Amino acid sequence: MNNVDKLHLQFKKDLSKSTSTSDLDNLHIKYLGRKGLINKLLQSIYKLRPEEKKELGKKVNELKTSINQLIGVRRQEVLKKAKSTSYVDMTLPGKQYPKGSLHLVSYAIEEISKIFQKIGFIRMTYPEVEWEYFSFDALNMPPGHPARDDFETFFIDYSPKNLKYGKMILSPHTSSGQVREMLRVKKPPIRMINIAKCYRPNWDTTHTPMFHQFEGLCIDENINITHLKGTIDYFAKEFFGENREIRLRPAHFQFTEPSFEPDITCGVCLGKGVINERKCRVCKSGWLELAGAGMVHPNVLSAGGIDPEKYTGWAFGFGIERVTMMKEGIMLDDMRILYDNDIRFLSQF
Ligand code: DAH
Repeated sequence: MNNVDKLHLQFKKDLSKSTSTSDLDNLHIKYLGRKGLINKLLQSIYKLRPEEKKELGKKVNELKTSINQLIGVRRQEVLKKAKSTSYVDMTLPGKQYPKGSLHLVSYAIEEISKIFQKIGFIRMTYPEVEWEYFSFDALNMPPGHPARDDFETFFIDYSPKNLKYGKMILSPHTSSGQVREMLRVKKPPIRMINIAKCYRPNWDTTHTPMFHQFEGLCIDENINITHLKGTIDYFAKEFFGENREIRLRPAHFQFTEPSFEPDITCGVCLGKGVINERKCRVCKSGWLELAGAGMVHPNVLSAGGIDPEKYTGWAFGFGIERVTMMKEGIMLDDMRILYDNDIRFLSQF
């Protein structure tokens, strides 16, 4: 038996004893490494005659290839076996990933959108950074009008004053979208629900500097107060429950005439004002103030390019945080908790 065959035999023996990938790594080094047995065998080549040299070189090369292949095949077998016998402990507890949820206000926005979508209102959003014009002038509150004071406002100082539109502000109410919607649609009918962030510099149990409102606007021929009342009643029953009633209490807003503050029966005493012969602590009178509303003022229709002789309309504005807080089962007594970002509060919903 020549040296090459001997080495081949030795390799086969070694291979049969290799049972792990590290055994195979060592085997590779032992035979094919720089100082390995193959190279050692080649070192003896110089003693041979040229034809023998050629013969040996060829055989050694064949052996090298074969060793490489056999180690590769065995490596696959070892890995496969390790995989099939690896142990999985089925009793270990699984990984628990924290589950997120929407913010309470986001849930309310979704619900309100759906309620109005059902009766054909389209949802719009208008700029949060707005011109004074759309928040005041176009709503029948010209510069210097005292009613502007009812809407405390953040002004954007670095923006230059525009001749027509005045200063830039953070929109203090969604009513700013009324005239924008009229200008967009141009010709009634209009049925819009505008849901957006609003800003006013207030911070107490019922106010946060950033809050949300939704504004309803309906304009067409022959629209009257009964449509307004019916729509608010529909919303109150869908959002708060069938057992709730509403009423329209006279009020004043520059952009509506007549104007109202819709009230809703209290969810705790259901409009009676008393529980167990005592005044209801939540409402004191049976009613809770819900929103602002009214018939759109002719000057506002004109600002939107709509003929007040031909068309009439109504509008309302609700605070989303406010209606969320009033919902049965929620009954928050401090609005600010909505924006504290305390995960213990938020993860309850
Ligand atoms: N924009 C008013 C506010 O923020 C609410 C309001 C009152 C909206 C009467 C209306 C309305 O659309 O008709 O206090």
